[in-house]
Amino acid sequence: MIVVTGGAGYIGSHCVLALHNSGYKVKIFDNLSTGHAETIDRLSKCADVEFVKGDLNNPEDLDRLFSGEKVSAVIHFAAFSQVGESMTEPAKYYRNNVCGTLNLLDKMLQYGVGRIVFSSTAATYGEPEYTPIDEKHPQRPINTYGRTKLMIENIMDDYDHAYGLKSVRLRYFNVAGADSDGRVGEWHDPETHLVPNILKSTFTGGKTFQMFGTDYETRDGTCVRDYINVEDLARAHILALKYLENGGKTEYFNLGTGEGSTVREVFSACEKITGKSIAVDEKPRRAGDPSVLIADASKVRNTLGWIPQKDLEQSVSSAYSWEKTLQSMLQKK
Ligand code: UFG
Repeated sequence: MIVVTGGAGYIGSHCVLALHNSGYKVKIFDNLSTGHAETIDRLSKCADVEFVKGDLNNPEDLDRLFSGEKVSAVIHFAAFSQVGESMTEPAKYYRNNVCGTLNLLDKMLQYGVGRIVFSSTAATYGEPEYTPIDEKHPQRPINTYGRTKLMIENIMDDYDHAYGLKSVRLRYFNVAGADSDGRVGEWHDPETHLVPNILKSTFTGGKTFQMFGTDYETRDGTCVRDYINVEDLARAHILALKYLENGGKTEYFNLGTGEGSTVREVFSACEKITGKSIAVDEKPRRAGDPSVLIADASKVRNTLGWIPQKDLEQSVSSAYSWEKTLQSMLQKK
């Protein structure tokens, strides 16, 4: 039995499907503060999943989670993840992300669960000193969100040294796309990410897409990011889990494709896939956006054998199909 915290969220829900496809039984733990009950319903229709509604900061909820069938590992997604909000409400981020994870780790020790795959982020690196970014790049986050994730990485090292808890930390770059069968997809409220925001603008009532910053020193003036497909990303979690099951030591890996796309290139891919001419409102730079973020992902390729299989157009295409589903779900609400 594998516990997935944050399984009602974007990346967690795709990981639940990947675990199910790999033959694992899954228990989802989520407080539904940013995840959606509808996502749990959709997952339950196609996968063997149990759902425990609860909060990482409530020890009794964690006891309910770990009592019963023996849990062999945890995949931990549950966290707040909005960079801007993390700067204005740091207490919320430290309490939920850091304190919540401490509670989770302590309960894992109490119940004899010795493995965890953790959802970390490229935001732990901060302003890039060089690109592509490998795992040796200094970790100097420039926002509270990144700091919470780095603190947790450090806590996990200490918990390995002192208690033998093994972890794999996956530092994601920019995640995009949706389940190819349309069962789940990206659903944030408010949505801040590039691909869904471009796509949402093509639906009736959608806000005109705002392009933040066109004067960067990049090939077309807009920011470069490394977009990784969410199903490829979910597959990496299965590989990380199997690595730990086979006795692997505590590790950390970048997850990206090694290829960068500009905001304008993503925009063009969206126009191509939707077949629509999309309106754009060019705005000043968004605070805190580094100009280029590209992963050197050779470590994960060499150690776990993970190779991304889907390109940006495939991610945009599945994201568009999902967005249509989401829009009709929201209309019925
Ligand atoms: N962008 C727009 N308009 C939008 C949304 C985004 O122009 O409506 C631009 C941003 O300015 C940026 C690029 O698109 O240049 C990508 O922005 P996203 O918000 O999609 O992604 P970020 O690179 O800001 O954030 C991602 C993850 C974070 C993580 C961060 C690490 O989503 O969780 O990478 O830097 F912290």
